[in-house]
Amino acid sequence: MPVLLIHGFPFSSEMWKAQVAALQENGFYVIDYDLRGHGQSGIGDGQYTVELFVDDLMALLDHLGITKAVVCGFSMGGYVALRAIERNPERFGALILCDTTSSADSNEAKIKRAASIKLIKKDGVRSFAEGFLKAVFYEQSFSTKQNAVESVRKIILSNSITGICGALLAMASRTDTTEALSKISVPTLVLVGEYDTITPPAAAKAMHDRIQNSKMHIIANAAHMSSMENPNEFNEHFIKFLKNLNILTD
Ligand code: MLT
Repeated sequence: MPVLLIHGFPFSSEMWKAQVAALQENGFYVIDYDLRGHGQSGIGDGQYTVELFVDDLMALLDHLGITKAVVCGFSMGGYVALRAIERNPERFGALILCDTTSSADSNEAKIKRAASIKLIKKDGVRSFAEGFLKAVFYEQSFSTKQNAVESVRKIILSNSITGICGALLAMASRTDTTEALSKISVPTLVLVGEYDTITPPAAAKAMHDRIQNSKMHIIANAAHMSSMENPNEFNEHFIKFLKNLNILTD
């Protein structure tokens, strides 16, 4: 059974480099793709919703002839994965939720998204990117994980204003998937950076408490970008979880 990775905002499949290498080394069939408006994917009109991202995900699985996958979503990718499993549970063999939340945006968060759109349209992606990097990385990572910071900066700057603003609107208008968590029956792994302030450990714990068959691990020395700030610890939990699923022969 393939393992499909969904990146966060405003990134691309590039963020999964360390995970793709580790999963392939361990013999897993990995699929990473760029969400609409991100990375190498088409941008279109920028009028995105999480529903549309889920439509795209289902179309991708259909196109590849995949009936079931292990789906791993990071942050905004987690919002997509959570709505997708609510809509199409039959397509999921297992679920991995990284630095994400089932809660919808509060009014305050929606207003912040609107302010970000205004800033990006006025000043471009660069000034938004610098503030965003400070919010998603652990302070110490700016000196200890310079390569990770630089690579995220590059990924953000390679995305378009239309794509980034479209994703902000999609996140602001997404539904709350908390009620559906108790219906998730596939094995689920919840990972979160110990210093994540965007989707904090408390949000991860709240999902873990509601998903029956779930495990949770807190990644040390990492904030929101846990998969890039501490890839060794992140991958260790990820691979251990996948090995227990016995999916290599499916
Ligand atoms: C992400 O990493 O995908 C975003 O920061 C999530 C968000 O802004 O809600």
